[in-house]
Amino acid sequence: MFQIAPSLLAADFWSLSTDMLSAVEGGADLFHVDVMDGHFVPNLSMGAMVVKAIKKKLNVTLDVHLMVTDPDANIDDFADAGADWISFHIEATPHAHRVCHKIRQRGCKAGIAINPGTSLSTLEGIIGDVDFVLLMSVNPGFGGQSFIDTTYQRIELLAEMCHSATSRPFIEVDGGIGTENIRELRKRGMQVAVAGSSVFGKPDPGAAVRQLIQASKDPS
Ligand code: DX5
Ligand code: ZN
Repeated sequence: MFQIAPSLLAADFWSLSTDMLSAVEGGADLFHVDVMDGHFVPNLSMGAMVVKAIKKKLNVTLDVHLMVTDPDANIDDFADAGADWISFHIEATPHAHRVCHKIRQRGCKAGIAINPGTSLSTLEGIIGDVDFVLLMSVNPGFGGQSFIDTTYQRIELLAEMCHSATSRPFIEVDGGIGTENIRELRKRGMQVAVAGSSVFGKPDPGAAVRQLIQASKDPS
């Protein structure tokens, strides 16, 4: 499995539907929704109403990335709105196990997000209970940042951890991904690539999705 998840944060909100339809035409059927509460990260972004509006019109998978201090309090709203995947930060709560179970009980895939500065060892107690790990390759809070190179070593270690975990979680990487690094990340174990600026920052999002998929493949 390998998928591109265009991140709505980089879209032009005036023409969100046009941009999304273009990405769908380019092969995207999964979209990343960055939810920021102004506390866990400084910005405010979008909420469950956006998820609900998209779900009414488009048959796509919505991957909600909660950058919030109280993930527990947000799960029902997003699940009701139609979220398919919900991830939250290991740094945000001491009750990661409970939150994962709540996400799964609501019928969504549960993901745990981890910041570039947090040791992967903090995932040991929870990795067997998640469907995926969202490995941050930038510090959360803003789109369009530069990719942090230590991600290459971290993804290799994470791939080993996921391989030996009972739930066999998949790896999604988030931040600064483009045609220049996507192949190396895929080679090292990335199965889902979040792409904000490298899709919606381009004049033709559909063509950008196709280029990313192409660039991720080994040349044959
Ligand atoms: C950062 C967000 C990312 C962001 C990625 O806080 O979690 O999902 O939208 O954007 P790019 O791909 O532009 O780095
Ligand atoms: Zn994100």
